[in-house]
Amino acid sequence: MANVTLRGVSKRFKNLVAVDDVSIDIADGEFVVLLGPTGAGKTTTLRLVAGLEKPEAGSVLIDGKDVTGFAPSQRDVSFVFQQYSLYPHLSVRDNLAFPLKSPAHSLNASQIKARVEHVAELVQIAHKLDNRSTALSGGEMQRVAIGRALVRDPAVFLMDEPLSSLDAKLRGDLRVELKRIQKELGATLLYVTHDQIEAMTMADRIGILDEGRLVQLGTPREIYEDPVNVHVAARLGQPAINLLPVSVMGGVSAPQSASTMGIRTEHLDVIGQGTRASDNDDAAMKVAATLERVEFLGDQNRLHLRMGDHRIVTLGDGDIEYRIQPGSEMTLRARNALYFDQNGERVRG
Ligand SMILES: Nc1ncnc2c1ncn2[C@@H]1O[C@H](COP(=O)(O)OP(=O)(O)O)[C@@H](O)[C@H]1O
Ligand SMILES: [Mg+2]
Repeated sequence: MANVTLRGVSKRFKNLVAVDDVSIDIADGEFVVLLGPTGAGKTTTLRLVAGLEKPEAGSVLIDGKDVTGFAPSQRDVSFVFQQYSLYPHLSVRDNLAFPLKSPAHSLNASQIKARVEHVAELVQIAHKLDNRSTALSGGEMQRVAIGRALVRDPAVFLMDEPLSSLDAKLRGDLRVELKRIQKELGATLLYVTHDQIEAMTMADRIGILDEGRLVQLGTPREIYEDPVNVHVAARLGQPAINLLPVSVMGGVSAPQSASTMGIRTEHLDVIGQGTRASDNDDAAMKVAATLERVEFLGDQNRLHLRMGDHRIVTLGDGDIEYRIQPGSEMTLRARNALYFDQNGERVRG
């Protein structure tokens, strides 16, 4: 495989800047996920790497070579599109073999067979090799589509939300499989998604894309624990981080320019019921709130609370709903607050 570099790459469509001065270095064998909402420029970035779009500015390097002027076929990339399409009249086997039958590959029939069967094992579709591609479930079709990319041995894999059309269970299974396959192959993979769980669980590094700009790049933990701004903070975490004016929390020693504080649900502890908290320590980061609703999810309970005009969410014990009723007053203590200024930029203490 190879490393991939984007150097100050920009792409506009008329007045719209779809990709805005993006620079990123993807190491050989690295799994990088670009995460952003619809319209953030994810697909366009992949198309720029693949050579399906030409940038107005900047350059794309694959394996150290400037390929900005190269046609897609000269770039040695394998692309899994968001709208995957198999050849319906072909079997799974022939769909998987298809990319190997181009004149660019000089494999003989037995080599092709061996490769197809190896990839079919990887994506766990070997038992359906002789099915027509239409006689498959959605998840199986998607595995074939991914397998068709893997059957080649390109410099880099590009994947555009390949799991987004699947139901939650299959998405979860394929997430794990894809990560395993990528590790096994040592593949360089640039993957884009709007799904934070996919990004968190698969990526070596996540790039947060917002309106065409790469806002932050780092490991999942870095992005989660040390976001550069309030948008990044809100992008990761389910339930989302609680954002409150710094003034609402008693005893906070917030940095001067901070106007908003962010407290993740797991950093907001219920320390007592009733407005008079039972423990006697100082008032630092304590707040009274009223329980509005308990959302029971099996492995956790989400507590929806009201603090004056603000709604907050925290996590409760699995059985808290038996002990606390909606309408109850509770005391909470916050830890590890993140601070943001008026523009949403991170303020460090
Ligand atoms: N071929 C195109 N012509 C005009 N605008 C486009 C074209 N492709 C993408 N765009 C616009 O560029 C922006 C980024 O699009 P895209 O890269 O598809 O975002 P994403 O994949 O993150 O949803 C969007 O506003 C989209 O409407
Ligand atoms: Mg897209």
